[in-house]
Amino acid sequence: MLKGKTIIVGVTGGIAAFKACDLVSTLKKLEAEVWVVMTRSAREFVTPLTLRTLSQNPVITELFSEDEYKKPVPHVSLAEKADLIIIAPATANLIGKIAGGIADDALTTTIMTAKCPKLLAPAMNTNMWENPIVQKNLDALKSLGYHFVGPIEGRLACGTVGLGKMAEIAKIIRKAEGLFTKEVKSADLSGMKILITAGATREAIDPIRFISNRSSGKMGYAIATAAQARGAEVTLITGPTGLPHPPGVKVIEVQTAEEMREEVMKHRPGQKAIIMAAAVADYRPAVTFWQKFKKDGESYNLELLKTADILAELGKLKNGSYLIGFAAETNNHLENAKEKLERKNLDLIVVNDAAAFEAEESEVHLIERSGSVTPLPRQKKHLTAHQILDAILRL
Ligand code: CTP
Repeated sequence: MLKGKTIIVGVTGGIAAFKACDLVSTLKKLEAEVWVVMTRSAREFVTPLTLRTLSQNPVITELFSEDEYKKPVPHVSLAEKADLIIIAPATANLIGKIAGGIADDALTTTIMTAKCPKLLAPAMNTNMWENPIVQKNLDALKSLGYHFVGPIEGRLACGTVGLGKMAEIAKIIRKAEGLFTKEVKSADLSGMKILITAGATREAIDPIRFISNRSSGKMGYAIATAAQARGAEVTLITGPTGLPHPPGVKVIEVQTAEEMREEVMKHRPGQKAIIMAAAVADYRPAVTFWQKFKKDGESYNLELLKTADILAELGKLKNGSYLIGFAAETNNHLENAKEKLERKNLDLIVVNDAAAFEAEESEVHLIERSGSVTPLPRQKKHLTAHQILDAILRL
């Protein structure tokens, strides 16, 4: 995955700087082309000669030095050819400088010039890590697309035990490989039209109250984001979620199951795949009060009517498109999901535990029409989203 990639390893001044030697050596074993850029304080911890020997390339330490890289402005020429920058360790000072737009040495100018992905492995004292200024800078960089790995808990050089230790080298490498996996997949859904539903629907009782469920919409949004990133033409029909609209995706907002059904049927023609990740209400109140319902008496029976099953309806109309359903279960997960796959005429069903509804991570099984069952690991929803799309491609 990293073979032949040009990777800049930025080293800053923390005790974990010595581990940069292991990182460079591992990257070389994986046949990456490695260039090291060091800050002044990093050189207090590890010598340029060590990293030069391990990387088999000159080490850049100064902003203006012709002999180190044989180019008058090394940060520009190197930044342009880099596929990835890994900064390990990344100190609070370096993180603050990038977030503040400061470029005053070879490393910060290289980072600012480069357009490739940047992966930071922070390492610092626990109090520094927890400092709100550092956390604010991290949030700012994350929102700009910077990637992070670690820190982890452990015994720190200052003697305390806590969060702040640099992530293990194997983990940094895995994260770097993951960034390239996404890049490799970037256009494999090119031009494919995909319709996705997400979130919970709301069935009004009166102008104030409604029946809904705990679905956050995160899974459907993650699939929409991933499919768009891989070149698909994505339409997302969503219940109210409060989540930001994924860039480049056509988003249609609905409230009720019936509104979702109408929009799905309207946009159905021409779709290559329809992914029903929405938690559609199964029942709606028989009567919706147009004024606030006033309490009267000790009990009240609410009559509910069944909503139309959108997915089952799509299953009957299917012609040439792939139909993917979701099943959120609390018990007999696989049996219930297999029954739904058959009954609704699906090509694939994604089964998860109902407890995963509001979580950031998911742990699902994919069941195909052929009967094959694939368990996916517990992982962030965006990774599950990519694996669901991989499964659809295999179909
Ligand atoms: N679904 C739908 N329309 C509905 C209800 C559900 O399209 N009115 C879709 C969901 O988007 C999901 C799948 O059907 O992809 C499974 O939903 P679920 O509620 O778990 O299954 P049900 O068939 O309703 O079975 P049960 O409620 O008995 O578990």
